[in-house]
Amino acid sequence: MIRLENVAYGYKTSEHKALDYVSISFRQGDWVSVIGHNGSGKSTLVKILMGIINEYEGTITVDGTVLDDTNASVLRKRFAIVFQNPDNQFVGATVEDDVAFGLENDGVPREEMITRTEAALKAVNMLDFRNHEPSRLSGGQKQRVAIASALAMAPDVLILDEATSMIDPEGRREVMKILRTIHEERQTTLIFITHDLAEIEHSDHAIVMGDGKVVSEGTVEEIYRDIDTLVASRLELPFNMKLSHALLDGSFMSYEELVARL
Ligand SMILES: Nc1ncnc2c1ncn2[C@@H]1O[C@H](COP(=O)(O)OP(=O)(O)OP(=O)(O)O)[C@@H](O)[C@H]1O
Ligand SMILES: [Mg+2]
Repeated sequence: MIRLENVAYGYKTSEHKALDYVSISFRQGDWVSVIGHNGSGKSTLVKILMGIINEYEGTITVDGTVLDDTNASVLRKRFAIVFQNPDNQFVGATVEDDVAFGLENDGVPREEMITRTEAALKAVNMLDFRNHEPSRLSGGQKQRVAIASALAMAPDVLILDEATSMIDPEGRREVMKILRTIHEERQTTLIFITHDLAEIEHSDHAIVMGDGKVVSEGTVEEIYRDIDTLVASRLELPFNMKLSHALLDGSFMSYEELVARL
């Protein structure tokens, strides 16, 4: 659905390319994780996809159409994003207003706006909080509202840039659970950016980035199995992987399997 060919970008203040001639594809309906250490170029990739950065080299195609100045704003309407900081993405005085904001801006008729807002809040299990003030929610709840705001726009592609990194483990688990449901029920394409290897578990495909380049890509099993590459990419291995690597054959397994094997 989205294909990047030799896409490169360097910030003016830096000699290095933040994104260094990257070629990757995102298949429709897939959950694709992009994982990499700090500064590996993940957010730069997101900024290019979202049109926050426009002066990149290379080409991006969306369903076979090359993204250019004439069509970018229309094609990008199919993308929605959730950022890292839950506090920086609210515009409404209540949860409901916040979710409806984008729809209102788009001139969606009132009745439809209400239906879509309710459906989106229901999808993230936040309908009961519709009249609450966003600033008073927990981090995990805030991110669920941010996901609802994105979902209300009925995007084909939902991009999450480290959307779980600033919330506590409980909130993180809730968000991951909701993403799994959304992915299963709506077949939304997910581009899930993270530096946490444990979080790629449910993706269909994973791309490892390092220093602006694609280091490796494959299924989650393939990525987890290649521990040398993960270590060389300066990624922190989850505890169960470390233990399996040290004591067993190093294959990826859930905590339950690991306990059973040990
Ligand atoms: N606004 C900017 N101006 C100059 N350099 C930048 C800017 N934003 C990012 N960079 C640099 O570009 C490179 C890639 O940064 P990017 O934010 O894309 O990485 P990232 O993988 O998202 O990192 P993180 O895990 O910390 O979010 C880094 O070397 C970073 O220092
Ligand atoms: Mg980033």
